[in-house]
Amino acid sequence: MTEFAERYGPWAVVAGASQGIGEAFARALAGRGTNLVLVARRPEPLTALAEALPVRTVTVAADLATAAGLAAVFAATAELEVGLVVANAAYWPSGLFVDAAEGDLQRIIDLNCGAPVRLARHYLPPMAARRRGGLIVMSSASGLQGNPLLTAYAASKAFGAVLAEGLWWEMRGSGVDVTACVAGAVSTPGLTAGGRRPPPGTVAPDEVAAAALAGLGRGPRVVPGALMRVSTALMSRLMPRKSAIDLMARATKAALPSGDDKDGAA
Ligand SMILES: NC(=O)c1ccc[n+]([C@@H]2O[C@H](COP(=O)([O-])OP(=O)(O)OC[C@H]3O[C@@H](n4cnc5c(N)ncnc54)[C@H](OP(=O)(O)O)[C@@H]3O)[C@@H](O)[C@H]2O)c1
Repeated sequence: MTEFAERYGPWAVVAGASQGIGEAFARALAGRGTNLVLVARRPEPLTALAEALPVRTVTVAADLATAAGLAAVFAATAELEVGLVVANAAYWPSGLFVDAAEGDLQRIIDLNCGAPVRLARHYLPPMAARRRGGLIVMSSASGLQGNPLLTAYAASKAFGAVLAEGLWWEMRGSGVDVTACVAGAVSTPGLTAGGRRPPPGTVAPDEVAAAALAGLGRGPRVVPGALMRVSTALMSRLMPRKSAIDLMARATKAALPSGDDKDGAA
């Protein structure tokens, strides 16, 4: 067993493991010898990923925006020692807030905010009892200020970062490490969904997963990538708030297919 698997093993739950950053987390964790519970709605990519990994795996096809989906994950892990949870699944439709369907807004709240809270509440107490474990909550640079055209999503990412930071403090001394991973643009199917274009400075999912895992136990938040660390510091500390919001609006609009800023396509 690797040092990492001893510290955070033997099992990790990766929420949203079927593609993108979640898949990169799964591969990175498998490389560190951690067995994996892979969760997402579509079973096929989960099975394909599980078959390619050199560790023990359990796949759970579940909608984490629902109580039934969360219950399925808890049932599937009832007999496993889960030492790490990566709260990564998220929904991020773009478009004007006033045009968004109420169901889409509810899904953002349930998946991006509700699922990390429920996962944390379920898995952290047994980790603390064993005096070892970890939780990573995927957040975003979108959540560092208002992000027009991704307004509710950005607010949900601020929620995730603040949740993780509070938990980081509360779990200190319990043997359980909590960190928020505040990523900039990452080249995933989610980023380019609906014809969105990757902005300059987009990084690879592997880089994000590696930075988050390396940052676990080193503080309340990780910002992957040197360029992103500089730009988030500039935007959140030096730039006037209005300018930071305006910059995010322009960057998000530039990434959308033309004319799509009024249509809320994901
Ligand atoms: N990509 C970026 O530029 C970027 C930047 C900053 C932060 N982030 C954050 O990083 C995380 C991952 O982003 P990503 O770009 O890799 O996302 P993505 O490509 O959209 O993938 C999302 C993953 O979550 C799963 N998922 C979606 N809805 C789900 C649900 N209701 N229940 C269970 N699983 C669900 C998806 O699988 P199924 O469709 O099979 O369910 C998929 O595996 C998110 O928290 C995002 O906010 C991303």
